[in-house]
Amino acid sequence: MEKIYITTAIPYVNGNPHIGHAMDYCLADCYARYQRIKGNEVRFQAGTDEHGNKIAQKAKELNVSVQEYVNENSEKFKNFIKKLNVSYTDFIRTTDVEHEKRVQEIWRRLSDHIYKAKYEGWYCTGCERYITKKEYEETGGVCPDHQKPYERLEEENYYYRISDFKDRIREAIESDELRILPEFRKKEVLRLLNESPDVSISRPVSQLSWGVPVPDDPSQVMYVWLDALSNYITVLGFPESLDFAEWWPADAQFVGKDILRFHAIIWPAMLLGLNLPLPRTLVSHGMVLCDGQKMSKSIGNVVDPVEVLDKYGLDAFRYFFLRHIDTFADSDFTWEKFSDAYNNELANDLGNLVQRLSTLAEKNQITYDKKENSGLSDEYIGLMDNFEFSKAFDLVWNRIQRLNKQIDEDKPWSLAKSGEIEKLNKCMNSLIEGLLDATYELSPFLPNAAEKIIEVFEGQIRAPKAPLFPKS
Ligand code: MSP
Repeated sequence: MEKIYITTAIPYVNGNPHIGHAMDYCLADCYARYQRIKGNEVRFQAGTDEHGNKIAQKAKELNVSVQEYVNENSEKFKNFIKKLNVSYTDFIRTTDVEHEKRVQEIWRRLSDHIYKAKYEGWYCTGCERYITKKEYEETGGVCPDHQKPYERLEEENYYYRISDFKDRIREAIESDELRILPEFRKKEVLRLLNESPDVSISRPVSQLSWGVPVPDDPSQVMYVWLDALSNYITVLGFPESLDFAEWWPADAQFVGKDILRFHAIIWPAMLLGLNLPLPRTLVSHGMVLCDGQKMSKSIGNVVDPVEVLDKYGLDAFRYFFLRHIDTFADSDFTWEKFSDAYNNELANDLGNLVQRLSTLAEKNQITYDKKENSGLSDEYIGLMDNFEFSKAFDLVWNRIQRLNKQIDEDKPWSLAKSGEIEKLNKCMNSLIEGLLDATYELSPFLPNAAEKIIEVFEGQIRAPKAPLFPKS
Protein backbone atom coordinates (compact mmCIF):
# COMPACT_ATOMS: atom_id res chain seq x y z
CA MET A 1 0.00 0.00 0.00
CA GLU A 2 1.35 3.39 -0.98
CA LYS A 3 0.66 6.74 0.60
CA ILE A 4 -0.66 9.16 -2.00
CA TYR A 5 -0.95 12.91 -1.48
CA ILE A 6 -3.24 14.87 -3.82
CA THR A 7 -3.81 18.62 -3.86
CA THR A 8 -6.16 21.16 -5.48
CA ALA A 9 -5.65 24.88 -6.08
CA ILE A 10 -7.23 26.95 -3.33
CA PRO A 11 -9.71 29.42 -4.85
CA TYR A 12 -9.85 33.10 -3.96
CA VAL A 13 -12.90 33.79 -1.88
CA ASN A 14 -13.83 37.06 -3.57
CA GLY A 15 -17.07 35.63 -4.92
CA ASN A 16 -19.20 32.53 -5.19
CA PRO A 17 -17.94 29.28 -6.67
CA HIS A 18 -18.60 28.96 -10.41
CA ILE A 19 -18.58 25.84 -12.58
CA GLY A 20 -14.92 26.38 -13.55
CA HIS A 21 -13.92 25.86 -9.93
CA ALA A 22 -15.39 22.37 -10.11
CA MET A 23 -12.63 21.18 -12.45
CA ASP A 24 -9.85 20.88 -9.87
CA TYR A 25 -12.20 19.09 -7.49
CA CYS A 26 -13.74 16.66 -9.98
CA LEU A 27 -10.36 15.65 -11.42
CA ALA A 28 -8.59 15.36 -8.08
CA ASP A 29 -11.48 13.46 -6.54
CA CYS A 30 -11.60 11.04 -9.45
CA TYR A 31 -7.90 10.39 -9.01
CA ALA A 32 -8.22 10.03 -5.23
CA ARG A 33 -11.00 7.47 -5.56
CA TYR A 34 -9.04 5.60 -8.22
CA GLN A 35 -6.04 5.40 -5.89
CA ARG A 36 -8.23 4.14 -3.07
CA ILE A 37 -9.73 1.33 -5.14
CA LYS A 38 -6.17 0.34 -6.03
CA GLY A 39 -5.69 -0.11 -2.28
CA ASN A 40 -3.62 3.00 -1.60
CA GLU A 41 -3.98 5.36 1.33
CA VAL A 42 -4.88 8.88 0.23
CA ARG A 43 -4.49 12.28 1.79
CA PHE A 44 -6.38 14.89 -0.16
CA GLN A 45 -6.16 18.64 0.52
CA ALA A 46 -8.65 21.36 -0.38
CA GLY A 47 -9.02 24.87 0.96
CA THR A 48 -9.46 28.58 0.35
CA ASP A 49 -7.09 31.45 -0.49
CA GLU A 50 -8.18 34.37 1.67
CA HIS A 51 -5.53 37.10 1.67
CA GLY A 52 -4.65 39.90 -0.73
CA ASN A 53 -6.02 43.19 -1.97
CA LYS A 54 -8.48 41.61 -4.35
CA ILE A 55 -10.40 40.16 -1.41
CA ALA A 56 -9.94 43.14 0.90
CA GLN A 57 -11.27 45.49 -1.80
CA LYS A 58 -14.34 43.34 -2.36
CA ALA A 59 -15.17 43.29 1.36
CA LYS A 60 -14.78 47.06 1.46
CA GLU A 61 -17.16 47.48 -1.48
CA LEU A 62 -19.73 45.42 0.39
CA ASN A 63 -19.11 47.31 3.60
CA VAL A 64 -18.35 44.24 5.71
CA SER A 65 -15.26 43.34 7.69
CA VAL A 66 -12.75 41.31 5.68
CA GLN A 67 -12.75 38.52 8.25
CA GLU A 68 -16.52 38.23 8.14
CA TYR A 69 -16.44 38.26 4.36
CA VAL A 70 -13.84 35.50 4.04
CA ASN A 71 -15.56 33.37 6.69
CA GLU A 72 -18.79 33.49 4.79
CA ASN A 73 -17.28 32.79 1.38
CA SER A 74 -14.92 30.08 2.55
CA GLU A 75 -17.98 28.27 3.89
CA LYS A 76 -19.62 28.54 0.47
CA PHE A 77 -16.66 26.79 -1.13
CA LYS A 78 -16.63 24.13 1.54
CA ASN A 79 -20.33 23.45 0.98
CA PHE A 80 -19.78 23.34 -2.75
CA ILE A 81 -17.02 20.74 -2.36
CA LYS A 82 -19.30 18.67 -0.15
CA LYS A 83 -22.11 18.92 -2.67
CA LEU A 84 -19.74 17.53 -5.30
CA ASN A 85 -19.03 14.58 -2.96
CA VAL A 86 -15.33 15.35 -3.03
CA SER A 87 -13.53 12.93 -0.74
CA TYR A 88 -11.02 15.42 0.67
CA THR A 89 -9.33 14.68 3.96
CA ASP A 90 -7.95 18.12 4.89
CA PHE A 91 -9.38 21.61 4.43
CA ILE A 92 -7.09 24.60 4.89
CA ARG A 93 -7.82 28.31 5.02
CA THR A 94 -4.91 30.71 4.56
CA THR A 95 -6.32 32.76 7.46
CA ASP A 96 -5.92 29.78 9.82
CA VAL A 97 -3.61 30.88 12.62
CA GLU A 98 -1.57 27.69 12.32
CA HIS A 99 -1.06 28.28 8.61
CA GLU A 100 0.06 31.87 9.19
CA LYS A 101 2.61 30.81 11.80
CA ARG A 102 3.97 28.08 9.55
CA VAL A 103 4.26 30.46 6.58
CA GLN A 104 6.32 32.81 8.73
CA GLU A 105 8.61 29.93 9.61
CA ILE A 106 8.86 29.09 5.91
CA TRP A 107 9.92 32.70 5.23
CA ARG A 108 12.63 32.44 7.88
CA ARG A 109 13.93 29.23 6.35
CA LEU A 110 14.07 30.83 2.89
CA SER A 111 15.97 33.88 4.15
CA ASP A 112 19.29 32.97 2.49
CA HIS A 113 17.56 33.53 -0.84
CA ILE A 114 15.68 36.69 0.08
CA TYR A 115 16.93 40.26 -0.46
CA LYS A 116 15.38 43.72 -0.33
CA ALA A 117 15.18 45.98 -3.37
CA LYS A 118 13.08 48.61 -5.01
CA TYR A 119 10.30 47.40 -7.31
CA GLU A 120 9.32 49.66 -10.14
CA GLY A 121 6.83 48.11 -12.47
CA TRP A 122 3.33 46.84 -12.99
CA TYR A 123 0.89 44.73 -11.03
CA CYS A 124 -2.49 43.14 -11.74
CA THR A 125 -4.70 42.82 -8.68
CA GLY A 126 -7.08 40.53 -10.57
CA CYS A 127 -4.25 38.04 -11.19
CA GLU A 128 -2.41 39.05 -7.97
CA ARG A 129 0.69 39.05 -10.17
CA TYR A 130 3.66 41.25 -11.08
CA ILE A 131 3.70 42.01 -14.78
CA THR A 132 6.94 42.10 -16.79
CA LYS A 133 7.77 44.98 -19.11
CA LYS A 134 7.40 42.65 -22.09
CA GLU A 135 3.93 41.57 -20.99
CA TYR A 136 2.96 45.16 -20.40
CA GLU A 137 3.98 46.08 -23.92
CA GLU A 138 2.33 43.05 -25.50
CA THR A 139 -1.02 43.73 -23.82
CA GLY A 140 -1.03 47.50 -24.22
CA GLY A 141 -1.10 47.82 -20.42
CA VAL A 142 -4.48 46.15 -19.96
CA CYS A 143 -4.89 42.71 -18.42
CA PRO A 144 -6.51 40.47 -21.04
CA ASP A 145 -8.09 38.30 -18.33
CA HIS A 146 -9.52 41.07 -16.18
CA GLN A 147 -9.92 43.87 -18.73
CA LYS A 148 -8.37 46.33 -16.29
CA PRO A 149 -5.31 48.54 -16.72
CA TYR A 150 -2.27 47.37 -14.77
CA GLU A 151 -1.37 49.29 -11.66
CA ARG A 152 1.98 51.09 -11.50
CA LEU A 153 4.00 50.21 -8.40
CA GLU A 154 7.09 51.89 -7.01
CA GLU A 155 7.86 50.38 -3.68
CA GLU A 156 10.47 48.70 -1.56
CA ASN A 157 9.91 44.93 -1.52
CA TYR A 158 11.58 41.71 -0.56
CA TYR A 159 12.60 39.53 -3.47
CA TYR A 160 13.07 35.81 -3.78
CA ARG A 161 16.10 34.78 -5.78
CA ILE A 162 14.53 32.46 -8.35
CA SER A 163 17.87 32.61 -10.21
CA ASP A 164 19.41 30.41 -7.47
CA PHE A 165 17.20 27.53 -8.62
CA LYS A 166 16.54 27.96 -12.32
CA ASP A 167 19.02 25.31 -13.49
CA ARG A 168 17.77 22.77 -11.00
CA ILE A 169 14.11 23.43 -11.93
CA ARG A 170 14.85 23.16 -15.64
CA GLU A 171 16.64 19.85 -15.09
CA ALA A 172 13.74 18.50 -12.99
CA ILE A 173 11.16 19.47 -15.60
CA GLU A 174 13.17 18.23 -18.57
CA SER A 175 13.83 14.86 -16.93
CA ASP A 176 10.21 14.49 -15.73
CA GLU A 177 11.34 14.34 -12.11
CA LEU A 178 8.71 17.07 -11.94
CA ARG A 179 6.27 15.86 -14.56
CA ILE A 180 4.14 18.55 -16.18
CA LEU A 181 0.97 17.41 -17.87
CA PRO A 182 -0.15 17.81 -20.56
CA GLU A 183 3.20 17.37 -22.26
CA PHE A 184 2.68 20.43 -24.52
CA ARG A 185 2.63 22.75 -21.50
CA LYS A 186 6.11 21.62 -20.52
CA LYS A 187 7.76 23.63 -23.35
CA GLU A 188 5.69 26.65 -22.43
CA VAL A 189 6.88 26.44 -18.83
CA LEU A 190 10.52 26.01 -19.84
CA ARG A 191 10.29 29.13 -21.99
CA LEU A 192 8.70 31.08 -19.12
CA LEU A 193 11.37 29.83 -16.75
CA ASN A 194 14.10 31.31 -18.96
CA GLU A 195 12.38 34.69 -18.87
CA SER A 196 11.52 34.63 -15.14
CA PRO A 197 13.11 37.40 -13.11
CA ASP A 198 13.51 37.13 -9.33
CA VAL A 199 10.09 37.48 -7.82
CA SER A 200 8.92 40.14 -5.44
CA ILE A 201 7.47 38.39 -2.37
CA SER A 202 6.22 41.24 -0.20
CA ARG A 203 4.34 44.51 -0.35
CA PRO A 204 4.58 47.50 1.97
CA VAL A 205 1.89 47.30 4.63
CA SER A 206 0.60 50.67 3.43
CA GLN A 207 -0.30 48.99 0.10
CA LEU A 208 -1.43 45.62 1.38
CA SER A 209 -2.63 45.14 4.89
CA TRP A 210 -4.69 41.95 4.54
CA GLY A 211 -1.96 39.34 4.58
CA VAL A 212 0.65 37.53 6.65
CA PRO A 213 3.17 39.93 8.23
CA VAL A 214 6.78 39.43 7.20
CA PRO A 215 8.66 38.17 10.26
CA ASP A 216 10.79 40.83 11.98
CA ASP A 217 9.68 43.59 9.61
CA PRO A 218 6.30 45.09 10.52
CA SER A 219 6.46 47.40 7.51
CA GLN A 220 5.96 44.53 5.05
CA VAL A 221 3.28 41.94 4.31
CA MET A 222 3.84 38.74 2.34
CA TYR A 223 2.87 38.46 -1.29
CA VAL A 224 -0.30 36.36 -1.54
CA TRP A 225 1.18 33.66 -3.74
CA LEU A 226 3.99 32.88 -1.31
CA ASP A 227 1.38 32.49 1.41
CA ALA A 228 -1.03 30.54 -0.82
CA LEU A 229 1.47 28.08 -2.32
CA SER A 230 2.72 27.21 1.15
CA ASN A 231 -0.70 25.76 1.97
CA TYR A 232 0.23 22.48 0.29
CA ILE A 233 2.78 21.78 3.00
CA THR A 234 1.43 23.74 5.98
CA VAL A 235 -1.74 21.66 5.77
CA LEU A 236 0.44 18.61 6.42
CA GLY A 237 1.89 20.37 9.44
CA PHE A 238 5.20 21.47 7.90
CA PRO A 239 7.65 22.11 9.43
CA GLU A 240 6.97 20.55 12.81
CA SER A 241 4.80 17.57 11.96
CA LEU A 242 6.47 14.22 12.44
CA ASP A 243 4.66 12.41 9.64
CA PHE A 244 5.16 15.18 7.06
CA ALA A 245 7.75 13.17 5.10
CA GLU A 246 5.35 10.25 4.85
CA TRP A 247 3.10 12.38 2.64
CA TRP A 248 5.35 14.86 0.92
CA PRO A 249 6.15 15.03 -2.02
CA ALA A 250 2.68 15.28 -3.49
CA ASP A 251 1.90 12.68 -6.12
CA ALA A 252 -0.43 14.93 -8.04
CA GLN A 253 -1.17 18.64 -7.82
CA PHE A 254 -4.19 19.76 -9.84
CA VAL A 255 -4.23 23.33 -11.14
CA GLY A 256 -5.79 25.25 -14.01
CA LYS A 257 -3.51 26.22 -16.91
CA ASP A 258 -3.84 29.90 -15.90
CA ILE A 259 -1.91 29.32 -12.68
CA LEU A 260 0.57 26.73 -13.91
CA ARG A 261 3.38 29.33 -14.03
CA PHE A 262 3.20 29.85 -10.24
CA HIS A 263 3.21 26.12 -9.60
CA ALA A 264 5.95 25.27 -12.07
CA ILE A 265 8.37 28.10 -11.22
CA ILE A 266 7.82 29.89 -7.89
CA TRP A 267 6.61 26.79 -6.07
CA PRO A 268 9.54 24.52 -7.03
CA ALA A 269 11.92 27.39 -6.20
CA MET A 270 10.36 27.64 -2.75
CA LEU A 271 10.58 23.90 -2.19
CA LEU A 272 14.22 23.80 -3.28
CA GLY A 273 14.96 26.71 -0.93
CA LEU A 274 13.46 24.61 1.87
CA ASN A 275 15.44 21.53 0.80
CA LEU A 276 12.24 19.65 0.10
CA PRO A 277 11.57 17.27 -2.77
CA LEU A 278 9.53 18.50 -5.73
CA PRO A 279 6.00 17.26 -6.41
CA ARG A 280 5.85 14.29 -8.76
CA THR A 281 3.20 15.60 -11.16
CA LEU A 282 1.57 18.91 -11.91
CA VAL A 283 -1.66 18.28 -13.76
CA SER A 284 -2.75 21.41 -15.56
CA HIS A 285 -6.31 21.29 -16.82
CA GLY A 286 -7.96 23.48 -19.43
CA MET A 287 -10.62 26.12 -18.86
CA VAL A 288 -14.36 25.67 -18.85
CA LEU A 289 -15.84 28.16 -21.28
CA CYS A 290 -19.47 29.21 -21.51
CA ASP A 291 -20.88 29.59 -24.98
CA GLY A 292 -17.33 29.63 -26.29
CA GLN A 293 -16.21 32.47 -24.06
CA LYS A 294 -14.36 32.87 -20.81
CA MET A 295 -16.84 33.17 -17.94
CA SER A 296 -17.04 36.70 -16.71
CA LYS A 297 -19.40 38.73 -14.62
CA SER A 298 -19.34 41.59 -17.10
CA ILE A 299 -20.34 39.34 -20.02
CA GLY A 300 -22.96 37.84 -17.70
CA ASN A 301 -22.27 34.24 -18.72
CA VAL A 302 -21.21 32.86 -15.33
CA VAL A 303 -22.96 29.57 -14.60
CA ASP A 304 -23.88 28.86 -11.01
CA PRO A 305 -22.91 25.25 -10.19
CA VAL A 306 -25.59 25.05 -7.51
CA GLU A 307 -28.23 25.67 -10.15
CA VAL A 308 -26.83 22.81 -12.27
CA LEU A 309 -26.64 20.51 -9.26
CA ASP A 310 -30.15 21.34 -8.10
CA LYS A 311 -31.63 20.84 -11.52
CA TYR A 312 -29.83 17.69 -12.64
CA GLY A 313 -28.16 16.16 -9.59
CA LEU A 314 -24.61 15.24 -8.75
CA ASP A 315 -24.14 12.29 -11.10
CA ALA A 316 -25.13 14.41 -14.08
CA PHE A 317 -22.76 17.17 -12.98
CA ARG A 318 -19.77 14.87 -12.56
CA TYR A 319 -20.67 13.00 -15.73
CA PHE A 320 -20.52 16.15 -17.83
CA PHE A 321 -17.43 17.64 -16.25
CA LEU A 322 -15.41 14.46 -16.29
CA ARG A 323 -16.43 13.14 -19.72
CA HIS A 324 -17.44 16.05 -21.89
CA ILE A 325 -15.03 18.61 -20.56
CA ASP A 326 -11.71 17.41 -21.94
CA THR A 327 -9.17 16.96 -19.15
CA PHE A 328 -6.49 19.10 -20.78
CA ALA A 329 -8.08 21.27 -23.46
CA ASP A 330 -10.53 24.16 -23.00
CA SER A 331 -14.11 22.95 -23.40
CA ASP A 332 -17.45 24.56 -23.66
CA PHE A 333 -20.37 24.31 -21.26
CA THR A 334 -23.80 25.03 -22.64
CA TRP A 335 -27.11 24.04 -21.07
CA GLU A 336 -28.03 22.37 -24.33
CA LYS A 337 -24.91 20.18 -24.42
CA PHE A 338 -25.38 19.39 -20.77
CA SER A 339 -28.99 18.38 -21.16
CA ASP A 340 -28.22 16.27 -24.27
CA ALA A 341 -25.47 14.42 -22.42
CA TYR A 342 -27.80 13.80 -19.51
CA ASN A 343 -30.78 12.57 -21.51
CA ASN A 344 -29.08 10.78 -24.39
CA GLU A 345 -26.21 9.20 -22.52
CA LEU A 346 -26.59 9.07 -18.77
CA ALA A 347 -30.32 8.32 -18.78
CA ASN A 348 -30.42 6.33 -22.04
CA ASP A 349 -27.28 4.26 -21.67
CA LEU A 350 -26.70 3.78 -17.97
CA GLY A 351 -30.16 4.52 -16.51
CA ASN A 352 -31.90 2.22 -18.99
CA LEU A 353 -29.38 -0.56 -18.55
CA VAL A 354 -29.89 -0.62 -14.79
CA GLN A 355 -33.65 -0.44 -15.14
CA ARG A 356 -33.93 -3.14 -17.80
CA LEU A 357 -31.64 -5.58 -16.06
CA SER A 358 -33.04 -5.14 -12.58
CA THR A 359 -36.68 -5.31 -13.76
CA LEU A 360 -36.01 -8.53 -15.68
CA ALA A 361 -34.13 -9.99 -12.73
CA GLU A 362 -36.81 -9.08 -10.22
CA LYS A 363 -39.64 -10.36 -12.41
CA ASN A 364 -37.92 -13.70 -12.99
CA GLN A 365 -36.55 -14.00 -9.45
CA ILE A 366 -32.99 -14.18 -10.64
CA THR A 367 -30.37 -14.30 -7.93
CA TYR A 368 -26.93 -12.96 -8.59
CA ASP A 369 -24.11 -15.08 -7.24
CA LYS A 370 -21.68 -12.46 -6.08
CA LYS A 371 -18.29 -12.96 -7.69
CA GLU A 372 -14.87 -11.51 -7.08
CA ASN A 373 -14.63 -8.33 -9.15
CA SER A 374 -12.51 -8.89 -12.24
CA GLY A 375 -10.49 -5.78 -11.37
CA LEU A 376 -9.44 -2.81 -13.47
CA SER A 377 -8.46 -3.30 -17.09
CA ASP A 378 -4.89 -2.52 -18.11
CA GLU A 379 -6.09 0.06 -20.58
CA TYR A 380 -8.10 1.82 -17.87
CA ILE A 381 -5.13 1.78 -15.47
CA GLY A 382 -2.86 3.14 -18.22
CA LEU A 383 -5.18 6.09 -18.86
CA MET A 384 -5.87 6.84 -15.20
CA ASP A 385 -2.16 6.70 -14.30
CA ASN A 386 -1.60 9.29 -17.03
CA PHE A 387 -4.45 11.47 -15.77
CA GLU A 388 -6.39 11.02 -19.03
CA PHE A 389 -9.69 11.07 -17.19
CA SER A 390 -12.06 11.92 -20.03
CA LYS A 391 -10.52 9.13 -22.13
CA ALA A 392 -10.76 6.60 -19.29
CA PHE A 393 -14.39 7.60 -18.84
CA ASP A 394 -15.01 6.96 -22.58
CA LEU A 395 -13.61 3.48 -22.08
CA VAL A 396 -16.02 2.76 -19.22
CA TRP A 397 -18.88 4.16 -21.26
CA ASN A 398 -18.05 1.83 -24.17
CA ARG A 399 -18.44 -1.09 -21.77
CA ILE A 400 -21.86 0.19 -20.72
CA GLN A 401 -22.97 0.61 -24.31
CA ARG A 402 -21.72 -2.89 -25.17
CA LEU A 403 -23.80 -4.32 -22.34
CA ASN A 404 -26.91 -2.64 -23.76
CA LYS A 405 -26.15 -4.28 -27.11
CA GLN A 406 -25.56 -7.61 -25.41
CA ILE A 407 -29.03 -7.56 -23.82
CA ASP A 408 -30.57 -6.86 -27.21
CA GLU A 409 -28.66 -9.75 -28.74
CA ASP A 410 -29.14 -12.26 -25.89
CA LYS A 411 -32.85 -11.40 -25.49
CA PRO A 412 -33.25 -12.74 -21.92
CA TRP A 413 -37.00 -11.97 -22.10
CA SER A 414 -37.36 -14.61 -24.83
CA LEU A 415 -35.56 -17.16 -22.64
CA ALA A 416 -38.02 -16.33 -19.83
CA LYS A 417 -40.96 -16.70 -22.16
CA SER A 418 -39.84 -20.11 -23.42
CA GLY A 419 -39.06 -21.29 -19.88
CA GLU A 420 -35.33 -21.83 -20.46
CA ILE A 421 -34.56 -21.10 -16.83
CA GLU A 422 -30.99 -22.33 -16.68
CA LYS A 423 -30.00 -20.40 -19.79
CA LEU A 424 -31.83 -17.34 -18.50
CA ASN A 425 -30.00 -17.50 -15.21
CA LYS A 426 -26.64 -17.80 -16.91
CA CYS A 427 -27.37 -14.98 -19.33
CA MET A 428 -28.61 -12.64 -16.61
CA ASN A 429 -25.70 -13.43 -14.33
CA SER A 430 -23.24 -12.69 -17.09
CA LEU A 431 -24.94 -9.35 -17.82
CA ILE A 432 -25.09 -8.37 -14.16
CA GLU A 433 -21.47 -9.36 -13.67
CA GLY A 434 -20.55 -7.20 -16.66
CA LEU A 435 -22.44 -4.26 -15.21
CA LEU A 436 -20.88 -4.61 -11.77
CA ASP A 437 -17.41 -4.85 -13.29
CA ALA A 438 -18.07 -1.68 -15.27
CA THR A 439 -19.48 -0.06 -12.11
CA TYR A 440 -16.20 -0.69 -10.33
CA GLU A 441 -14.37 1.33 -13.00
CA LEU A 442 -17.17 3.89 -12.99
CA SER A 443 -17.00 4.52 -9.25
CA PRO A 444 -14.20 7.15 -9.25
CA PHE A 445 -16.26 9.19 -11.73
CA LEU A 446 -19.79 8.71 -10.43
CA PRO A 447 -19.48 7.46 -6.84
CA ASN A 448 -23.17 8.01 -6.03
CA ALA A 449 -24.51 6.21 -9.09
CA ALA A 450 -22.05 3.36 -8.48
CA GLU A 451 -23.28 2.98 -4.91
CA LYS A 452 -26.90 2.86 -6.06
CA ILE A 453 -26.15 0.24 -8.73
CA ILE A 454 -24.35 -1.98 -6.25
CA GLU A 455 -27.28 -1.62 -3.84
CA VAL A 456 -29.72 -2.75 -6.56
CA PHE A 457 -27.83 -5.86 -7.65
CA GLU A 458 -26.03 -7.14 -4.62
CA GLY A 459 -28.31 -9.04 -2.28
CA GLN A 460 -31.89 -9.58 -3.37
CA ILE A 461 -32.36 -7.74 -6.65
CA ARG A 462 -34.95 -4.98 -6.52
CA ALA A 463 -35.57 -2.72 -9.49
CA PRO A 464 -35.40 0.96 -8.46
CA LYS A 465 -38.93 2.37 -7.98
CA ALA A 466 -38.02 5.50 -9.92
CA PRO A 467 -35.49 5.66 -12.79
CA LEU A 468 -31.96 6.46 -11.69
CA PHE A 469 -31.88 9.40 -14.09
CA PRO A 470 -35.39 10.64 -14.87
CA LYS A 471 -35.56 12.33 -18.28
CA SER A 472 -35.65 16.09 -18.04
N1 MSP B 1 -6.07 31.47 -5.39
C1 MSP B 1 -5.46 31.05 -6.59
C2 MSP B 1 -4.89 29.65 -6.45
C3 MSP B 1 -3.88 29.46 -5.37
S1 MSP B 1 -3.29 27.84 -5.30
C4 MSP B 1 -2.00 27.91 -4.28
C5 MSP B 1 -6.47 31.07 -7.74
N2 MSP B 1 -7.75 31.06 -7.41
S2 MSP B 1 -8.95 31.03 -8.48
O1 MSP B 1 -10.15 31.09 -7.71
O2 MSP B 1 -8.77 32.05 -9.46
O3 MSP B 1 -8.86 29.65 -9.22
C6 MSP B 1 -8.92 28.43 -8.50
C7 MSP B 1 -8.83 27.25 -9.46
O4 MSP B 1 -9.97 27.26 -10.32
C8 MSP B 1 -7.59 27.30 -10.36
O5 MSP B 1 -7.08 26.00 -10.58
C9 MSP B 1 -8.15 27.85 -11.65
O6 MSP B 1 -7.44 27.46 -12.80
C10 MSP B 1 -9.52 27.18 -11.65
N3 MSP B 1 -10.45 27.87 -12.52
C11 MSP B 1 -10.93 29.14 -12.38
N4 MSP B 1 -11.74 29.39 -13.44
C12 MSP B 1 -11.79 28.31 -14.26
C13 MSP B 1 -12.48 27.96 -15.43
N5 MSP B 1 -13.30 28.78 -16.05
N6 MSP B 1 -12.29 26.71 -15.91
C14 MSP B 1 -11.50 25.78 -15.30
N7 MSP B 1 -10.83 26.08 -14.19
C15 MSP B 1 -10.92 27.35 -13.69
O7 MSP B 1 -6.04 31.05 -8.88
